[in-house]
Amino acid sequence: MQILVVGSTGVVGRAVCRHLVSAGHTVRALVRASSDPATVRELAESGIETVAGDLADPGSVASACAGTDAVVSTATAISSQQPGDSLFTTDREGQLGLVDAAVAAGVRRFVFVSVLGLEPNSPFSEAKLAVEARLRASGLTYTIVQPSIFMDTWLSHHVGFDTDGASAVIYGDGTRPLRWVHSSDVAEIVAAALDAPAAENAVVPVVGPEALTPHQVVEIFEEVTGRSFTRNQVPAEHLEAQRAAAEHPTEQSFAALMLRYAAGDPDDVEPVEGLPAAHTTVEQYARRLTGA
Ligand SMILES: NC(=O)c1ccc[n+]([C@@H]2O[C@H](COP(=O)([O-])OP(=O)(O)OC[C@H]3O[C@@H](n4cnc5c(N)ncnc54)[C@H](OP(=O)(O)O)[C@@H]3O)[C@@H](O)[C@H]2O)c1
Repeated sequence: MQILVVGSTGVVGRAVCRHLVSAGHTVRALVRASSDPATVRELAESGIETVAGDLADPGSVASACAGTDAVVSTATAISSQQPGDSLFTTDREGQLGLVDAAVAAGVRRFVFVSVLGLEPNSPFSEAKLAVEARLRASGLTYTIVQPSIFMDTWLSHHVGFDTDGASAVIYGDGTRPLRWVHSSDVAEIVAAALDAPAAENAVVPVVGPEALTPHQVVEIFEEVTGRSFTRNQVPAEHLEAQRAAAEHPTEQSFAALMLRYAAGDPDDVEPVEGLPAAHTTVEQYARRLTGA
């Protein structure tokens, strides 16, 4: 299959590209003028065609879709934004335009990466839900991948989980279990979804192998590092006030994602048969991170 990957320079997108090449697919990666040059070079050196484009530029998206059998989109502006980027132009209008461009170009298959358990309470989640709805109505054979929260994002210093400093920010009271998943497992499942009949016209939840509360996660890190962690809890009411008062869409969306973490995962989610299962445990991640 000839597959266009949008988000190819991101954490999940890069790994998806590697899996697709290994599976014998021909991969075209959408990259931007502002994308990290080393990452773009790495993609090109692994036999991937890189095409310049931007979700905010509909003409470039239409050209990128032309001649492809499938589109995979992992792109988002939630965690890193170049000047001019916004959740509105990327996650909402950009992704909606990508679905429309795929239809117009006669693409057969579309895999979209969303998030598990979103509420329509922020520009980010509303954008994801709008794209999911557009895809369902598009006539494309779609897969909506809904991962739980990534351990390599939410157990990292970016969100206050400081392994070196032995301190952890916990969103909410830390008692609701989450099925922490590693981004590399998500990428493997996204790539596999393209060839899996069970993933056609389906929502694919992607959850890690264990349900662990944030406090249990901290205990694992304490055991692996042999250090006692300081725990700083941010009450859900505080996060809700932050979400309600936020003036910037990204700030509001982050507060909503922290609330999503605080709420825990639904307890009735099971992986889809016929796809690889996410296998990385929090303990394996902690050992990898610390070299223990
Ligand atoms: N982190 C979590 O806990 C979590 C949980 C569930 C689901 N997810 C979802 O997983 C997906 C992948 O996340 P990730 O960690 O791989 O994200 P990431 O590393 O931040 O990568 C984002 C990608 O989107 C691209 N992008 C941004 N704006 C663009 C635009 N206007 N046009 C084209 N490309 C654009 C970026 O390109 P540049 O390099 O050019 O900026 C980059 O390739 C996202 O959809 C996210 O919502 C994440």
